[in-house]
Amino acid sequence: MRVVILDSTDAVSRFAADQVADVMHRSRNSGKSPVLGLATGGTPLGLYNELIQRYRDGSLSFADVRSFNLDEYVGLPPEHDQSYHYYMKESLFQHIDIRMENTAVPQTWQCDLSISALEYESKIKNAGGIDLQILGIGTDGHIGFNEVGSSLASRTRLKTLTRQTRSDNARYFTSIDDVPIAAITMGIATILEARAILLLATGANKAKAVAGCVEGAISSGLPASALQLHPNVTIVVDRAAASLLHHAEYYEDSERVRVKLQSPQ
Ligand code: F6R
Repeated sequence: MRVVILDSTDAVSRFAADQVADVMHRSRNSGKSPVLGLATGGTPLGLYNELIQRYRDGSLSFADVRSFNLDEYVGLPPEHDQSYHYYMKESLFQHIDIRMENTAVPQTWQCDLSISALEYESKIKNAGGIDLQILGIGTDGHIGFNEVGSSLASRTRLKTLTRQTRSDNARYFTSIDDVPIAAITMGIATILEARAILLLATGANKAKAVAGCVEGAISSGLPASALQLHPNVTIVVDRAAASLLHHAEYYEDSERVRVKLQSPQ
């Protein structure tokens, strides 16, 4: 795992936008349209603003990009202002040149949920898989909505949300009772099939989950720890989210060495 510790949330967003731009560039260079895996929540908003700025200043186009979101609540229509369909349109899609028909968020409204989950998996496969998956992390260590106890072999499916997740997300709703009780989420195995993974975390409330993800034992008790099994993962965090990492000094040394080895001799 590459662990990058930065001084501010803005620096995390800029670093993430550079990674997205780089992956898009590489896909196009190999004659492929880029396929991005996207997340919602508070954490990636700075990244999305940065991508919007780069589109506006002409340095980045999304005209050929396909995207797949990690998850969607069950029980909210797509036009509900807390649905992830709505979030993506408001926070990113309507501000860039991506074609809406090339974007996908799991369908959960008035449909058969198990068929919808299976179809989502096929859609990802038919697009040739995901080049870069963006992830946030829950305070309980979830990725997507793969809550504690999620099988490391799980695929896209219906998942019940934990009380912790519902209470963390209650800030976006009038009351915790309005927070959906379930979601369709890509599974852990689905996420691990992405060719590269970029997990963003900011704030002290994520420090414990980040430490478990990077330095804990691989366990369904902390689903993000499964990322240790993937050969191309970057964890980018601010200092508060890095505060419980035992080996922070080593990760910072590694970044300095990386810069040194990459600069012309
Ligand atoms: C969102 C998602 C979740 C969030 C996580 C952190 O699509 O899959 O795993 O990334 O709950 O949320 P924030 O960023 O709001 O702290």
